[in-house]
Formats: sequence, C-alpha cells, structure tokens
Amino acid sequence: MTAIVTDEKQLQAPLLGGAPSSLPRPPHHQRNSSRQRLWRVLRPLIAIWALSSLLYCCASNLIRLGNYGVEISNRHSALPKHHERLLKYDGEHISWKTCGTVADRDVECSTIDVPMDQFNASNNANGQHFSIPLIRMRGKNATRSILLNPGGPGGSGSNFLYRKGAQLNTIIGEGFHLLSFDPRGINESRPAASCYPDPPARHDFSAVRDKKVVEDSGELWAWTANYVRSCADTMGEYAPHINTPQTAADMNSILDAIGQPELYYWGFSYGTLLGQTYATLFPDRARRVIIDGVANQFDWYDHPLDLEELTDTDAVFAGFLDECLKAGPGNCSLASLASSKDELSHNLIAAVAKLRDEPVPVYLNSTAHGVLDFWAVWHDGIFPALYKPANWPELATNLASLLQGNATAAFLSYAFDRNAWNESSDAFRFVSLNDGVSGPAHWPKDRLGLVAKLLPHFNSTSMFGDNELSHYFAKQAWPIPRSHGFVPQNGVQTVHPLLILSTTYDPVCPLVSARSAHKAFEGSKLVEVKGYGHCSLAVPSVCIARYVREFLYEGRLPEEDHVQCEVDGEPYFVKPDEGGKVVPTVVFEGEEERRIHLAQLELARDLDWGFRRW
Ligand SMILES: *[C@@H]1O[C@H](CO)[C@@H](O)[C@H](O)[C@H]1NC(C)=O
Ligand SMILES: *[C@@H]1O[C@H](CO)[C@@H](O)[C@H](O)[C@H]1NC(C)=O
Ligand SMILES: *[C@@H]1O[C@H](CO)[C@@H](O)[C@H](O)[C@H]1NC(C)=O
Ligand SMILES: *[C@@H]1O[C@H](CO)[C@@H](O)[C@H](O)[C@H]1NC(C)=O
Ligand SMILES: *[C@@H]1O[C@H](CO)[C@@H](O)[C@H](O)[C@H]1NC(C)=O
Ligand SMILES: *[C@@H]1O[C@H](CO)[C@@H](O)[C@H](O)[C@H]1NC(C)=O
Ligand SMILES: *[C@@H]1O[C@H](CO)[C@@H](O)[C@H](O)[C@H]1NC(C)=O
Ligand SMILES: *[C@@H]1O[C@H](CO)[C@@H](O)[C@H](O)[C@H]1NC(C)=O
Repeated sequence: MTAIVTDEKQLQAPLLGGAPSSLPRPPHHQRNSSRQRLWRVLRPLIAIWALSSLLYCCASNLIRLGNYGVEISNRHSALPKHHERLLKYDGEHISWKTCGTVADRDVECSTIDVPMDQFNASNNANGQHFSIPLIRMRGKNATRSILLNPGGPGGSGSNFLYRKGAQLNTIIGEGFHLLSFDPRGINESRPAASCYPDPPARHDFSAVRDKKVVEDSGELWAWTANYVRSCADTMGEYAPHINTPQTAADMNSILDAIGQPELYYWGFSYGTLLGQTYATLFPDRARRVIIDGVANQFDWYDHPLDLEELTDTDAVFAGFLDECLKAGPGNCSLASLASSKDELSHNLIAAVAKLRDEPVPVYLNSTAHGVLDFWAVWHDGIFPALYKPANWPELATNLASLLQGNATAAFLSYAFDRNAWNESSDAFRFVSLNDGVSGPAHWPKDRLGLVAKLLPHFNSTSMFGDNELSHYFAKQAWPIPRSHGFVPQNGVQTVHPLLILSTTYDPVCPLVSARSAHKAFEGSKLVEVKGYGHCSLAVPSVCIARYVREFLYEGRLPEEDHVQCEVDGEPYFVKPDEGGKVVPTVVFEGEEERRIHLAQLELARDLDWGFRRW
C-alpha cells in the first residue's frame, strides 16, 4: 500500500468536508526517510486540497488518493508515545488502524457506533448505541468492499477474517476489500449480549441437566425460568434490539461510514438470514448478495418450531457411513466392522444409544477422567462432524474404537475439557429468540404441554432433533418482547438478483431452504455443489468459485434457475497430508484455478469453522 505519513488533524477536516483548523505541519513520527521525502512533495498538495475545500465547499470529491489510504500518525499529538497510525481513505468517514496481518498482509480495524434502535430514533434519546468493530483486508486492486458474515448468530466477523481471510481473498480475488464486523452484541461489540453480568455468575448459574427430553424437563423448566429473567435483566433496555433486522440496518451504517452506496455481501449459514432480511428491507441497496448454506427465513421468523432445518441431517449421517464403506477399511476404520451400510448404521446407533442409560467411565489419571455419555458422542461428536467431511476420518476412528470397547479416544475428543461450540456469549439466544415467535403467548403454558409439543417434532425431524431441547425451553419462556415488525416476503425484487449457494446435503441448512429463498427473491439463481457439508466451502469446487466471481465482478448469474457443480477431487476419507501441507487433489491448467482449489481445500480442512446454526 502506498501511504503517506501525516497528522490526523490536518487531513481529517478536509476529508470530512469541514474547514481545516490549520495548515499541515510535518509529522512528529516518520517511519523512514523516503516517507519524509514523500511528505515534502505531498505537503503542498494537501494544503491546496485543504484550501480548495474551503473555497468550494465540496465535500466528497476533493481528495483523490485513488484506492490508497492516507496513513496518519500521532493521533494524540500531545501524547507522542502513542504512535498509533491511523489510516484514512478517500470518500470514507471513519479512520482505521492496522490490527495484525493475514497472509502477510496488514489488516485494518475500526469501530462505528450505531443507534440502539435503528428504526425508531426516540428510543435512543439518551444516546443509547452499540459499538460495532469492523475489520478489513484490502484487495490489491479494489475500490469496493464486500461484507462477510460467518453465521451463528453469534459468529464474530473479526475472528472469521483472521482465520479465513487469506483463503477468501484468494477465492474472491483482488477486486474486493474483505470487510467483516462483530454484529451488535457479539464478541467485541458493546454492550455484549449476555445472560450473566460477569464470568463468575456464568460459572455459578449456568449448569443445568438438559440432555433427556422427558426425564430432565422438570429441572430444565425451573432453571430456564431464572435464566431468561437473567437475560432480560442483564441487557436491560438493549435486550429487545439485539435482532437481525437491526443488524441488517447496521450494515447500512457500515456502508455509509465507508461511503459505499450499495451492498456487496457473502453470508454463510445464519448469514443467509441476515442477507435475506437485508435484501427484503433494503432491496434498492442489495447490489450483490450471495447467501450460502441457506436457512428458511419463514420458519426462522414465523414458526415456533423450525420445521425445515434438519431435513437432510440424517442423509449426511448416512453419507458418512456410505463414503466410509466405499473408502474401505484401509482408509476408514469403521468399514471393517460391518459389511453393509444398514448393518453399520444399526450397530453404531445401537452402541451409542446404549450410552443413554449406561455411560462409560474413562480414567487416564487423577487429573483426567470422566464419563462418556450419549450426548457427548451423539451431539458433541457426530453432529458437529457432519458440518465438514474433513472431520469424518477422525470421527470414524474414534467411533470404531468405541465400538471395539475402547472409549478413550471418543472421550478425549468429545467429552473431556471440550466445549464443542465454544460459546462464551448468549448472542445466539438473543438474536434467534428476539427474531422469532417466542414467549409463553405462542407456546404451551406448562412443562408437560411443552414436552408433548416437542417430542413428536424431535422424533419426526431427525435422529439429531433433540439437541434443540434447551433452545426451545428458552424460546417458550422468553420474556423479552419482539420489537421488530419484519415479515419475510415472497416476490422480493432486488436491484440485482441474489446468488444462492448450497451443498446437496447440508446437515443444518438443507437444499429445500435454498429453494425457498430462490422462490422468495425474484430472478435469483441457485447453484448447488454436489457434496456433503454445511455451506459451499465445506468442499472444494472451483466451479462454485467461478460462479461467485462472475456474479461479484460482472453481475452474471447462471441462465437456468438451478445449476450444479461437482466437488473437485475426492474429499472424503483421504489421509491427512504429512506436515499439514495441503496437496491439490486435482490438477488445474490455470495457475489461478490451482490457487483457488488450494484455498478451498484449506477451508474445507479447517475444522474450526466457527459458525453454527440451528
Ligand atoms: C417509537 O418509540 C417510542 C418510544 O418508545 C414509542 O412511543 C413510539 O410508539 C415508537 N414509534 C413507532 C413508530 O414505533
Ligand atoms: C484492476 O481492476 C480493474 C477494474 O476492475 C480491471 O479492469 C483490471 O484488469 C484490474 N487489474 C488487475 C491487475 O487485476
Ligand atoms: C473476538 O475478536 C477478537 C478481536 O477482533 C478476535 O481476536 C477474537 O478471535 C474474537 N473472539 C471470538 C470468540 O470470536
Ligand atoms: C485409500 O484410498 C485411496 C484413495 O481412494 C486408495 O488409492 C487406496 O487404495 C485406499 N487404501 C486402502 C488401504 O484401501
Ligand atoms: C493426565 O492425562 C492427560 C490427558 O492424557 C494429560 O494431558 C496429563 O498430562 C496427564 N496428567 C498427569 C499428571 O499425568
Ligand atoms: C485405548 O485407546 C487409546 C488411544 O485412544 C490407547 O492409548 C489405549 O492404549 C487403548 N486402550 C486399550 C486397552 O487398548
Ligand atoms: C474456547 O474459547 C476460549 C476463550 O474464549 C479459549 O481459551 C479456548 O481455547 C477455546 N476452546 C476451544 C476448544 O476452541
Ligand atoms: C418419541 O421418541 C421417544 C424415544 O426417543 C419415545 O419415547 C416417544 O414415545 C416418542 N414420542 C412421540 C410422540 O412420538
């Protein structure tokens, strides 16, 4: 990046269109002498820009530094020891500072404040607001930013960009800056959504027995009554405003802050609900919206029970067994334990089900021991592994030893010192319950009535259905009133049609939900990658990347309503590469496609995806 070092005060005024308070002075801190020379050359130019802003009072078009930023040091000139470098870009209304690197490239961070209630200013009369951390990785040839949401709700955009920015940059190309954010209430956004005032309270009050629908319902019912009150008390007046329509409006605040009129967007998982909500509320700004791993917005907002989400979960489980048998005992240890898929499925389910009533003790030493139960294997082991086929070889190994009577590996992977989803905040609850049909008015009023409603739902959706037990108890009891009036629509006409991505078998966001979005948004097109896993990035497919690029850069969509892409190579049950080096599974002629394939393989094998949804 080309940048000049100067003093914030001198440039901010003209950039923002106001009168400069003084003419530029040389900076106190310079990184090197070539910077000094550059400064001497640019200083008079900046003075002229500053003056011209006074003369012509034209705010936004005066300073043309191309796509490059003005790097500003010495924000607090009274405190020269803080040499924080601030970055400011033409046309933007905020400044940034570098906050680490991704793939040897500096990334930059900023924070904006958004009103607590984006839709009714009188609720912010005392200055109530959320702070929203932003993070951006600059494309080398970009004039626009694409916003990314990793899912959840509760996923942190900062974390996502640090972890996946390098690969996403390779897939998207240098024509876009990658911009993500911690949505209101999430991670470093403040106030942070929480049901406990501090970590000790979480430690003391969060334990509850919630693994058996019928047997645990008494304790869970009583515990939940306190839990939801604590959610409401902890967040006070902010509580009702942690929801998806507000976050959609926050994306406009982000666009306004960077001076970008229209939204370019790629949202994964829960990010597809955010994308659909945005496109419905603000169709005129929805220039390029990609939703990937789609959730049904009508279920999310309008139905007490989510009817569709687990449609294909059992099919992914069956796919795991199928691919294991196809790979054979040399590549999948479970394959030696049965001769057919039905037999394997039956034996495995029976062995795990036995843990419901007979959990097994695992003792390693006096500081490492515990109990392996049904929930750990089924819901913390198998279920999350369905999100990414790259998990499958290890899952198969752990299950094979469990079936052979050794529970140690499964215990260490799924039960010991492990929180599969690593949730340290309650953002998921606030967003999903504030969005949806929550509270006793919409639900059976008593425990047995609730259990009677949930049981057939769990039984009919999926073998994994009951992992939503505590979620629905909280939904029934939720005391925070729904503050938004958003209603999903069909026939939404956006300024440019949406691109919808899905795998064939997604454990939590099934293809049928992608079809629902396709129906809701006029002109949208659906691209399906013929594989297993959650969101298109669960498997490598250069074909998908081509569709993404054509869409983002040229606005081009497939001609047919629904097209398919192949998975590249054989992603299931391949042995992990030695030394962590990723070796391509197919050969591409072009260098660019080879790079994209490698990036996709890295994403497919990064098991800490960080997004979850149900
Ligand atoms: C906006 O908020 C105020 C104060 O809470 C409320 O009285 C008013 O009805 C709200 N207006 C709308 C349009 O919802
Ligand atoms: C940079 O972007 C412009 C406009 O999008 C494009 O025409 C040009 O080919 C790009 N240059 C490179 C080196 O990618
Ligand atoms: C929260 O944000 C920080 C800083 O942006 C980041 O390093 C961290 O990974 C995030 N934490 C989580 C749990 O996402
Ligand atoms: C494992 O899979 C690879 C790739 O499909 C295959 O070439 C190899 O023969 C398999 N190994 C065994 C022992 O089955
Ligand atoms: C106990 O076992 C755990 C898990 O294998 C290991 O990390 C730890 O170091 C062991 N502690 C002692 C005291 O041996
Ligand atoms: C059980 O498996 C663990 C590794 O997961 C291994 O260290 C241990 O020796 C096995 N125990 C027996 C009795 O085979
Ligand atoms: C979970 O998050 C905490 C901090 O938020 C971190 O220290 C820990 O390593 C994480 N655990 C896993 C399994 O990712
Ligand atoms: C649901 O399945 C459970 C066992 O998991 C069974 O005990 C119960 O009777 C079933 N209930 C309904 C309503 O189908």
